[in-house]
Amino acid sequence: MKLADNKATLSFSDGKPSIDLPVYQGTVGPDVIDIRKLYGQTGMFTYDPGFLSTASCQSAITYIDGDKGELLYRGYPIEQLATNCDFMETCHLLLYGNLPNAEGKESFAKRVTNHTMVNEQMQFFLRGFRRDAHPMAIMTGLVGALSAFYHDSTDINNPEHREISALRLIAKMPTLVAMAYKYSMGQPYMYPKNNLSYAGNFMHMMFATPCGEYVVNPVIERAMDRIFILHADHEQNASTSTVRLCGSSGTNPFAAIAAGVACLWGPAHGGANEACLNMLEDIQRTGGIAKVGEFMEQVKDKNSGVKLMGFGHRVYKNYDPRAKLMQETCKEVLAELGLENDPLFKLAMALEKIALEDEYFVSRKLYPNVDFYSGIVQRAIGIPVNMFTGVFALARTVGWIAQLNEMISDPEYKIGRPRQLFTGSVKRDVLPISQR
Ligand code: SDX
Repeated sequence: MKLADNKATLSFSDGKPSIDLPVYQGTVGPDVIDIRKLYGQTGMFTYDPGFLSTASCQSAITYIDGDKGELLYRGYPIEQLATNCDFMETCHLLLYGNLPNAEGKESFAKRVTNHTMVNEQMQFFLRGFRRDAHPMAIMTGLVGALSAFYHDSTDINNPEHREISALRLIAKMPTLVAMAYKYSMGQPYMYPKNNLSYAGNFMHMMFATPCGEYVVNPVIERAMDRIFILHADHEQNASTSTVRLCGSSGTNPFAAIAAGVACLWGPAHGGANEACLNMLEDIQRTGGIAKVGEFMEQVKDKNSGVKLMGFGHRVYKNYDPRAKLMQETCKEVLAELGLENDPLFKLAMALEKIALEDEYFVSRKLYPNVDFYSGIVQRAIGIPVNMFTGVFALARTVGWIAQLNEMISDPEYKIGRPRQLFTGSVKRDVLPISQR
């Protein structure tokens, strides 16, 4: 970042001396006012719950232009990556800052493939869960438990430890997600197969059984790989900020990523794809497209507490480019599977059309986000609804790690420790219980 020509001057109406604050510029996007010395100079904090106007860090990984509906991974538009690259190339890009050549891609993919197995002891963690446990509860536990097996690489300040942990986490997430699914089905776990692609291997571990040959459908494999690309990173979203804050204490990468998994689970964040599919199924069950008008009235009624899940975004005030690509992937998968008339897909497109013409949504700049169509395509592939967020966590792991490693390798980084505006009781004495 570089110092901008202009600066910010903060003045106070009560005559307190004004102060000048430096302004910094990035390569693109809003400038920032550096308030690091504000408390020292004024004895005051800034106040920004939800961080609507706060940059928590500088980063060179992902950039979103919310007004244009633009998403860049290391400068490359998501539309180009989703059509010209695969997830392994995207992981290399996010981790190292450049797209690999053919040789680099092969060697990176091979290193990932060689870490896809998990320690045999990992399977015994699942036995403690009920078979109907939510997969994200299982994933939060399993990812944190990984740290118990890699004491050789938990020093986050050691670049080699960071690299091997990154490869292990990217490689093992599909294995763990598939294990959580198999456990819920009461089926045996399927070991990774090194001769399959990253997406193909995930599908094999999810849908194969020891009883017969499972042949990966290349159209579905490509769709799965694209779903991973679309979910890989997204600036300082809630779960990435959680990973950064957790990692800032110096804890090991596995524990920091486990914190990200836990945060992603929330329905306002990564859990929205599951919530969106459940919403579509509810509408379908209670009347389908004929009921959309009534449902939309509920959404617009503040007291109903009903939201159009998969719609709206803190940053995008235009169409989420990932939603467009996900809709296209939806069409490809449904066509391949002969499900072009999937009622939920038709319902989703009807909902989108109505919302995009409705003043409530238009005035609030609410558009479909990545979660609006992702559930429909995953359900068509055969992934159960309660696994959707686990797939999101699988794909987002590379983004979390890239952001964590960027923070740790920044010599300026400190442990994150926000302050507060205190509104509680001032100091008071404890009375003996007989006088309370
Ligand atoms: C993800 O941050 C990221 O980058 C996240 C993510 C990633 O890749 O990491 O993109 C992934 O989490 C996508 C978002 C998935 N969540 C959902 O689809 C859940 C539904 N969406 C909303 O909960 C909401 O839009 C948020 C949480 C996504 C954004 O909330 P904000 O930025 O805090 O916006 P807001 O709640 O202040 O909404 C502004 C207005 C409000 O109305 P008013 O108070 O102005 O009258 O829009 C309304 C909101 O009530 N609104 C909605 C709505 N989303 C916002 N009304 C109905 N349905 C919705 N979905």
